[in-house]
Formats: sequence, C-alpha cells, structure tokens
Amino acid sequence: MKYTDYIDLTYTPYKNDIICKFYLEPLRLSLKETAGAVAAESSIGTWTEVKTEKQYVKKLAAKVFSIEQTNKKAAIIEIAYSSKLFEQGNIPNILSSIAGNIFGLEEIKNIRLLDINFPKSFIKSFQGPKYRIKGIREIMKIENRPLLGTIIKPKLGLNSEDHAKVAYVSWLGGCDLVKDDENLSNQNFNRFEVRLKKTLKMKDKAEKETGEKKAYIINVTAETKEMIKRVKLVENYCNEYVMIDVITSGFAALQTLRNLDLNLIIHAHRAGHAAVTKSKKHGISMKVIAKLCRFAGVDQLHVGAAFGKMFENKQEVGKNLKAIKEECGLKEVMPVASGGLSPKDVPNIINFFGRDVVIQMGGGIHGHIKGSLYGAKAAREAIESVISGIEIKEAQKHIKN
Ligand code: 3PG
Ligand code: 3PG
Ligand code: MG
Repeated sequence: MKYTDYIDLTYTPYKNDIICKFYLEPLRLSLKETAGAVAAESSIGTWTEVKTEKQYVKKLAAKVFSIEQTNKKAAIIEIAYSSKLFEQGNIPNILSSIAGNIFGLEEIKNIRLLDINFPKSFIKSFQGPKYRIKGIREIMKIENRPLLGTIIKPKLGLNSEDHAKVAYVSWLGGCDLVKDDENLSNQNFNRFEVRLKKTLKMKDKAEKETGEKKAYIINVTAETKEMIKRVKLVENYCNEYVMIDVITSGFAALQTLRNLDLNLIIHAHRAGHAAVTKSKKHGISMKVIAKLCRFAGVDQLHVGAAFGKMFENKQEVGKNLKAIKEECGLKEVMPVASGGLSPKDVPNIINFFGRDVVIQMGGGIHGHIKGSLYGAKAAREAIESVISGIEIKEAQKHIKN
C-alpha cells in the first residue's frame, strides 16, 4: 500500500476501533501523504510497497479519517486502528505502534500524540486501579478533606535515621502521607530496608501520639525483579503504600507491579514525563500518559499542580484530571498536586481540584522558618480552614476537554 492508501476521509470508525489524535507537521511531503505515512508506520506499513502484503493484511491498515488543517504547515489528524492490531492488556505493545517509529520518521517535522480513545471492550483487558478514591479514603480514615502529603527534603543525602526523624515530625505536624522523593531508592547513605524499618517505627509512634492514621510512601523504583522483592518486603511490613517512577521504570514494570495484586496503594511519580510532554508540537501529551497509567493500574498520580513550580497550566492539568477520573469502565485515580507548593497555595488548589486530591509539599513544609513540624502544621491548618470556611467548587468544573 502507498501512503495515500491509508487515507479514507469518508470512513466512520467502528465501535471497536482505537482512535488516536495527532498534531502533525510535514517536512516536504503533502499533508495527506505525511498523514498516510503516520498511519502506515504505526500499523502495517513501511516506506515502500512490499511484495509480502496479503489481502487480509491490508484490511488491518490504520485509516486516517480526519485531517483538520490548523495552518499552512500543520494539521490535527485522527487515525482509526482496528483493535485486532494490538495485544490486549499490553501497554508497551500498543505504544510501539501508536507512539513508536513515527516520532523518528525523517519526513515528519513534528508529531504529537494528543489523545487516545480505546473501546470499553479493550479497556477491560487492563487491570486498572485497585482501590479508587473511596478505597484510599477508607484506608487513610479521611472522609472528605484533601490528603496532606510531604516529600522528605533534602531529596537525597539524609541517612535513614534522619529521614525517619523528618518523617516523624511531619506526621506529628499534621501530614497524612510522607513520601520518598523520586530519586531515592537504595543508595549507600540510605538503605531501602533500613529506611523502611526506621520510618515505619516512627509512623507507629506518630499514630499513637496523634490518634490519626498515617502512611509512608516508599519508592520501590528499581530493576523489575528487585522492585518485586522490595514491594513484597513492604507488604510484609504491613505498609499501605509504594511509589514507582512510572516513566523511568516503564509501563512494563508498572504493569508487573500492579499484576502482583498486593495490598498496597500504588503512588505514581511521573519524573521525566516532560521530556515527551512539554513541547506543544512533538511528543506525547500528559493526558495520554495519565490514561495509560490508569489502565496499568496506578491508584494515585502526579498530574501537575496548576500552581507552583511545574510548567502546566490549569487547562492542561484539567485534561489530566479528566483522563484519570472520567467514566471509562475502570476505577478512577486519586490526583496528586505536587511541585513547588506551599500552604499559601492551598485555597487555589482546593478550589481547582475539589476535595479529592493529595496536596504535597516538600520545600513548602521543610522550608518553614521554624522547621518541618511548623511547616506541616501550617499546611494542615490551611487545609482545615479552607474546608471549613469556603464553598468548594468541585473539580468537575475544571475537567474539560
Ligand atoms: C524498524 O523497526 O527499525 C523499522 O521497522 C525498520 O523498517 P524499514 O526498514 O521497513 O523502514
Ligand atoms: C515531587 O516529587 O513532587 C517534589 O519533590 C515536590 O517537591 P517540592 O514541593 O519541594 O517542589
Ligand atoms: Mg520530587
């Protein structure tokens, strides 16, 4: 098949088709030919016609069914893929098609995967989250306020003893969750198991002293077999949470973790996502990554904060929220707002996200002039006062396309 054979602007997608929306900028070829190249390379084709192509194979060709030119040199295109092209429940396999070679084709100046829509029958082949927001609230015994989390800072370098001490005062001050940073794993200065033991001991102490449920989100990111050992250890210690860096570990590792079906809430950190999500013209949108994380089965996901140090604005974060919360046949994911937040951001965060959110502050708590205890107190007080004082505009309002 030639590239233009992959274009059918009269095609109406079947209910079992997978639909992908791309931003596309050709280099030399026409828009149509370049769009055809995307459909070819991401389904059955290559740069030339091949003699091995059978009639039954041609039927599986992806179809470009919409080309909306946005200016002389760019368009938004939509491509329908038969779900027969993919292995059910296999995220790496799906990505190798719809987010694979196309990013490197010479004839494409820029291409960005903006959105993916899977039929419910296909979505069912994924595990999805285990707990949903209600389940997390039950475990944490917090009915209707946002959860308050902190990231231990300095992000790297503290020994296990000091790490546990910082965790303790953070819990005492009012944090519900204390979490490792994305780049802490099992370094010489802070061994995984030592940290786990010491921090959980402090968690018990903080629970006794405050009468509140507390949890520790330990980062299990590692080579997959090592990660499995670590999560099992965490489960044996009866902890509630683990954290995985989903981008650096990859979707296969994430799926492995979820498929273990352990009694652990999976907190997903997305460090590195901006390498593919930040450009408006090239890469993959965070919305797509959020959907895939939900399919794979994370329970909590960093979705940007709309305020704070990260680049995403309200509109972008709203799209991520929609991806993890809208009805799709799987449980919803708890959003995590994190990155450069401090107690003064709490009213904005709650106004934007509603009550179903984990509000996380690292520097915003441990940078308090009187230390982490007072930082945590200030953050918790900010949440309590917003919740008791103002009418919360629920998050749905912001969840727009
Ligand atoms: C690859 O995966 O590297 C491509 O499929 C190469 O295929 P081609 O030689 O037909 O371009
Ligand atoms: C995170 O991993 O989300 C960050 O560590 C947040 O830290 P910060 O609140 O100091 O920006
Ligand atoms: Mg961090």
